[in-house]
Amino acid sequence: MHSKINDRISYVGVNDLRGRVFEGQWPLPHGVSYNSYLVVDDKVALIDTAAAGFADEFFFNIKAEIGDRKVDYLIVNHMEPDHSALMVPVREKWPDIRIVTNAKAAAMIKEFSGIDTDIILVKEGDTLPLGHCSLSFHMVPMVHWPETMVTWLEDEKTVFSGDAFGCFGAVCGDIRDYQSSLYKASSSFENAFEAFKGEMQRYYADIVGKYGAPVQAALRKLSGLEIKRICPTHGPVWEERIPQVVSLYDRMSRYDADHGVNIVYGSMYGNTAAAAQALSEALTARGIPNEMHDLVAEQGPSFAYAGTFRYDTLAVGSPTYNTDIFPAVRDFMHGVALRGVKGRRFASFGSYTWVGGGNKVLNSLAAEAGLEVLCDGYGFKSGYDPSKFDAAAFADLLANG
Ligand SMILES: Cc1cc2nc3c(=O)[nH]c(=O)nc-3n(C[C@H](O)[C@H](O)[C@H](O)COP(=O)(O)O)c2cc1C
Ligand SMILES: [Fe+2]
Ligand SMILES: [Fe+2]
Repeated sequence: MHSKINDRISYVGVNDLRGRVFEGQWPLPHGVSYNSYLVVDDKVALIDTAAAGFADEFFFNIKAEIGDRKVDYLIVNHMEPDHSALMVPVREKWPDIRIVTNAKAAAMIKEFSGIDTDIILVKEGDTLPLGHCSLSFHMVPMVHWPETMVTWLEDEKTVFSGDAFGCFGAVCGDIRDYQSSLYKASSSFENAFEAFKGEMQRYYADIVGKYGAPVQAALRKLSGLEIKRICPTHGPVWEERIPQVVSLYDRMSRYDADHGVNIVYGSMYGNTAAAAQALSEALTARGIPNEMHDLVAEQGPSFAYAGTFRYDTLAVGSPTYNTDIFPAVRDFMHGVALRGVKGRRFASFGSYTWVGGGNKVLNSLAAEAGLEVLCDGYGFKSGYDPSKFDAAAFADLLANG
């Protein structure tokens, strides 16, 4: 997809609608976009490239926007290969091109592609004149890698923000939030924004979630700017919904969450799963927002991490499994600990048949991760039965703390 965002800025990124997973693991039920932008003035700057496998479409898009004009600068904001994979063909196509990036990224460029010539190194606040307008560069380390920077186009009050403010989900029709056909097709603007918002929470929770403090530092840096447009590397260009996406990022990076329960479980024979459903029903009956994640059905923890960032309470279920817990649940708990999730209440549940112990393992993993463990856990022996699993008492505890 390519389009003019305005007289100076064009979108030349690609939609990946066939890829099953992102980073080799995160499911993509709605696809993902790899965004790239041109700033066209006396000189032409290309901001980031795209993922491997999309070269033909990417170069087609650029040609459709600028014809046979050459690209003078390639700005590298972030070296993760979903945005930098096409650097080598870009240099082959425009041999005089200058790569503009910071010293940390330059070292990575050499490591990934062997390129170490024709690089203009920039530091915090440096500018690059393009003719009538100029770009400036601002370091935002760990959002999402150590070399990450954002590019600011003062004349258009536009920030090219890299992965920050990005989300999963291919963008249809038009890259601008208010023009996207996703917005137009949905029954309301709000509904469509809610869909992207969920994919933004999931992108953040899965990929950036560990880096709350650097995201806060980046937000402080951007807070002095009067931003009219955010051009991220994934998902829509934000024009109409800037306050909403900035506030969402601010809340997520502070680990601030709504009151509600994220129910996450693994189950071999359905007994722990049945308890999860009973708990969900009891919470809903009490008016407590909740969502349920079966780690096996969802092929991993991606959606469950998003729920962990959305809600202030985490209820995790696992059968006892070889005196430990179900492997997918252990993996999820490890991911919660790695993400440094703060300010969450926790409770465990699950089935066992001989001595049990799954809840104890879950509680100690939660305590190690810094979560507030509310109770010993709602374990029950063998087959699920409402007489063994007091969903009402469990829901009351989670509702009231
Ligand atoms: C491979 C395997 C290992 C198990 N290990 C234990 C165990 O160490 N301790 C225990 O009390 N139960 C153990 N169990 C029994 C399960 O916890 C029990 O069958 C439980 O009801 C399964 O819950 P589910 O229906 O949610 O999968 C094990 C079961 C299997 C299949
Ligand atoms: Fe990234
Ligand atoms: Fe990315």
